Amino acid sequence: MRIVHTANELRGTTTRPARRSGDRPSRAVVMTMGALHEGHLALVRAAREAADEVVVSIFVNPLQFEDPDDLDTYPRTLDEDCALLEPLGVDVVFAPSVDEVYPTGLPVVTVNAGRIGEVFEGAHRPGHLDGVLTVVCKLLHLTQPDLAFFGQKDAQQLIAVRTMVRDLAMGVDIVAVPTVRDVDGLALSSRNVFLSGEERARALILSEAVMAADAAARTGADLDEALAAGNAALAREPEVEVEYLAALDPVSAEGLEGDYRGEAVIAVAARVGETRLIDNVVTRIGRPLG
Ligand code: PAF
Repeated sequence: MRIVHTANELRGTTTRPARRSGDRPSRAVVMTMGALHEGHLALVRAAREAADEVVVSIFVNPLQFEDPDDLDTYPRTLDEDCALLEPLGVDVVFAPSVDEVYPTGLPVVTVNAGRIGEVFEGAHRPGHLDGVLTVVCKLLHLTQPDLAFFGQKDAQQLIAVRTMVRDLAMGVDIVAVPTVRDVDGLALSSRNVFLSGEERARALILSEAVMAADAAARTGADLDEALAAGNAALAREPEVEVEYLAALDPVSAEGLEGDYRGEAVIAVAARVGETRLIDNVVTRIGRPLG
């Protein structure tokens, strides 16, 4: 496994043609901000299965942090991350500095997530999804993959990335990988390390809420009833400060209402103490899944 820090070094690592050769995609990328956990490793394993060459990027992207304290305290654990990646057969770790990715300072031209960047996550974290898309676009250009793997855990990010790739004809296949959970249901997140024992116990209410909504939908509940089931669960933890629990259209991220029937992302965001957490489940409203 080679660990490289510059775009030039990255270009030098390529052992195969950058684009699909024969019947197998040649290169897959997994983009991360480090502080790797089993959720990231699931992305890497899926990439390893799918492609000849796996590149993992590790870059804490300042453009997607609205709060400078959050950026400063974001865990940075490159050595531990590389130790986790090596046994998985990763070919290249690309861990650039901020100056390497943004050599002229903040980029003049950026990607705008449009309406997707204004609702739910976008409303609570203005500019966040623009920052994500800008760095994803840049990392796609630098790594030139056939496939790029993203976690379902960041459902709105996944929708935004898919939409960018579609609308700007970016020529890469985006593959979604299911959320990895602890045995008690808590979705894995690099931010979980900030939770005290008590907070971690409280944080379980996020997964319980989306699972309750999903369970209701599976037994035939309509959208309002499914969301009511999720809200009833959240009400059991009044100290958890809920930002939203909502049903999102899986393609546009618009909020779903009324008598909608079809696939829906039930998403929740909440603060547990100082830590902001998100979770979601993809369900179907209007008919039991069986
Ligand atoms: O999901 C993340 O870790 C980040 O948003 C990403 C996709 C690596 C972009 O910085």
